[in-house]
Amino acid sequence: MKVTIVGAGAVGASCAEYIAIKDFADEVVLIDIKEGFAEGKAMDLMQTSSLNGFDSTITGTTGDYSKTANSDIAVITSGIPRKPGMTREELISTNAGIVKNVTENIVKYSPNVTLIVVSNPMDTMAYLAAKSSGLPKNRVIGMGGALDSARFKYNLAMAMNCPTSEVNAMVIGGHTDTGMVPLIEKANRNSIPVAKFLSAEKQQEVVEATKVGGATLTKLLGTSAWYAPGAAVSEIVKAIALDSKKIFPCSAYLTGQFGLEDICIGVPCVIGKNGIEKIVEVDLSNAEKEKMQSSAEEVRKTNALL
Ligand code: LAC
Repeated sequence: MKVTIVGAGAVGASCAEYIAIKDFADEVVLIDIKEGFAEGKAMDLMQTSSLNGFDSTITGTTGDYSKTANSDIAVITSGIPRKPGMTREELISTNAGIVKNVTENIVKYSPNVTLIVVSNPMDTMAYLAAKSSGLPKNRVIGMGGALDSARFKYNLAMAMNCPTSEVNAMVIGGHTDTGMVPLIEKANRNSIPVAKFLSAEKQQEVVEATKVGGATLTKLLGTSAWYAPGAAVSEIVKAIALDSKKIFPCSAYLTGQFGLEDICIGVPCVIGKNGIEKIVEVDLSNAEKEKMQSSAEEVRKTNALL
């Protein structure tokens, strides 16, 4: 199992670290355009191998895509992150060119790769990669929903004063401050609906905090977050590597599911060795359906800027 991570910034390096610690990959390659940066991050991470007890090897390269050849999975984190006050959509003019170029280079050396797109605006970047890579659509996965769901679960656990391991919840829709659709009606604590523990008002507070989860962190950190994004990517990479068939909400290219087509947006996906092995068309309430439709309209507006 060879995993390439494009972009050795905070999210890319954090991804590499979690993948190494979970120790399921043979080889991780970090690639960046900044001279020596990926090599340095790889060396620093490798020096943790005896401390953290992993056998995966991590190497770095400055822009040499031949080193990424025959990757099974490539994670695209390249591009600029947002600054406080910015939306993810405002990054499109810079990041679209970068993501297209990276996608072409990756596929040239790894024609059977599965791509995981993290760069923002993520749903539009996943759409761009799906269109420009020539890969089967099940091999292009946008990572947003796994992160947003982790934030949703954490926020719910805080509100219910319980461990996150008791919470089951999912966020679908676009990975945007306004377009996320946290499925609060389906969220539960150890199979008991969260409405048993939280007032309607408190539930709404959790939903709103989840939608702006990334923006809240950007304001605190001065740039976008990396630990939870890195951990979320590592779980998807692991599900592919171990062919585990776990369900994550991912930005998938839709061909009619949820009444949507020719768009990448967050929907529940079974993830295994073939990437997105199945899109699960969970029944949505009328309110959820409406939110999903307006989220899709928002994503389409950003796609139109490509
Ligand atoms: C976030 C960025 C990675 O939500 O989109 O933190």
